[in-house]
Amino acid sequence: MTAPRKALVLGGSGYLGSAVVRLLRARGLDVWHTYRTREKPALALAAETGSTAMALDLTDLEALRKGLERASKGAPLDVLVHAAGTFAEADVATLTPTLYESAMDVAVRAPLFAAQWLARSLPAESTRRIDLVIAGALDRAQSLPLPACFAAAEGAKGALVMALAKELGHRNVRVNAVSVGLLEGGASEALSGALSRDFAAFSALGRRGTADEVARVIAFLALDSDFLTGKTIPVNGGL
Ligand SMILES: NC(=O)c1ccc[n+]([C@@H]2O[C@H](COP(=O)([O-])OP(=O)(O)OC[C@H]3O[C@@H](n4cnc5c(N)ncnc54)[C@H](OP(=O)(O)O)[C@@H]3O)[C@@H](O)[C@H]2O)c1
Repeated sequence: MTAPRKALVLGGSGYLGSAVVRLLRARGLDVWHTYRTREKPALALAAETGSTAMALDLTDLEALRKGLERASKGAPLDVLVHAAGTFAEADVATLTPTLYESAMDVAVRAPLFAAQWLARSLPAESTRRIDLVIAGALDRAQSLPLPACFAAAEGAKGALVMALAKELGHRNVRVNAVSVGLLEGGASEALSGALSRDFAAFSALGRRGTADEVARVIAFLALDSDFLTGKTIPVNGGL
């Protein structure tokens, strides 16, 4: 009997991350997921789905390394989903270096160093498939009214997946992103009601999306597609 494939979902306590955890568990994967502040919902999700929750602050690279080691114990990771993010609401005038650093650390530095850890842990001769999927907010095709710091962190993800995919593709590592439109929960709750209504009205489908709708695309990228890497797939209802 082959062991179930193993996944780690960074930000599994979030609105999107928890939908990804549920779907990957439903697809039979052994799933680990992280939380930073929302311990109770994370443990409840683990009890509900049979996944494993662990505390991890993604601004701490040493904690990230330890978390990756812990989740890989016994069997290596096949899938890494990054669904963690912070919505720094500050406009340009009020933005502080601390806010900027923490947004960039979570959105860009964490997936980059997680990818480095995964690549380093692959034996040279390995042909084992690994998939990295990063959830973000922008595919650079739109100019949206978002805080500059958030936009910079989210926009960097597209370039990151292109470079990682090129560098790691020959080792059978696929790296993709989804650029998520406005959803019914999670990060969107930080937006004003008026802006949220504008986004929904502006989208082709005229509504906000759900975490399940995005999770299905993430699962497709991680589990079902083969010849697709280095791309950012917009899942935004047609923005
Ligand atoms: N929801 C939307 O409408 C929407 C739209 C566009 C893009 N997105 C993108 O989708 C991704 C997930 O968003 P979401 O809606 O699921 O947001 P969410 O419900 O607010 O979840 C955010 C997740 O990130 C984790 N997190 C935040 N800071 C962290 C840190 N320093 N270390 C470790 N984990 C940290 C949170 O952990 P704790 O809660 O445990 O602290 C939580 O698991 C983000 O990249 C977001 O930008 C979402």
